[in-house]
Amino acid sequence: MVVKMIKQLFWGIAIVFGISACYYDKGEELYGKSQCVTTNITYTKDISVSVNQSCVGCHGATAPSAGISLHDYTSVVENVKNGKFVGSVKQDGTASNMPKGGGKWSTCNISKLDAWIQGGYKQ
Ligand code: HEC
Repeated sequence: MVVKMIKQLFWGIAIVFGISACYYDKGEELYGKSQCVTTNITYTKDISVSVNQSCVGCHGATAPSAGISLHDYTSVVENVKNGKFVGSVKQDGTASNMPKGGGKWSTCNISKLDAWIQGGYKQ
C-alpha cells in the first residue's frame, strides 16, 4: 500500500516536471530580454522574418492594404524612411496599430528594428 503510494507520487512528480520542462523550453523564457541580439542586424537575417510573418499577408506585392507594399527590402526601407511603419509597429499613437488584428511585435523585435535603422538599413 505505502509502496504503491510512493510509486504514484513518484510518477506524479515525474509527469509534472516532464510537462514543465517542455513548457519552459522556449527561447524568450529561457534567456529573457537580456539575450536579445541587436548587433549586426540585417534585413534578410532579422527584419524580413518578422515582416513576412506579420505584415505581408495584407501588405503583399499585389493589391496591398492601404497601397502599402512591404514585400521586399526596397519597399520596407522606403516605408520605414518615409512612412508610418515604425509608429505602426511600436503602436505609439502616431499611426494605425499594426499588425492589424493583434500580434504586436515583441520588445526584442522592436529593438532589432531600431538597431537596423541605426545601422543604416543593411540588406
Ligand atoms: C490583417 C491585415 C493587416 C496586417 C496583418 C497588417 N496590416 Fe498594415 N494596414 C492594414 C490596413 C487595412 C490598413 C489601412 C487602414 C488603417 O490604417 O488601419 C493598414 C495600414 C498600414 C499603415 C499605414 C498606417 C497609417 O496610419 O496610415 C502602415 C504603415 C502599415 N499598415 C504597416 C503594417 C506593418 C508594418 C505590418 C506588420 C507589422 C502590418 N501593417 C500588418 C492591414 C494590415
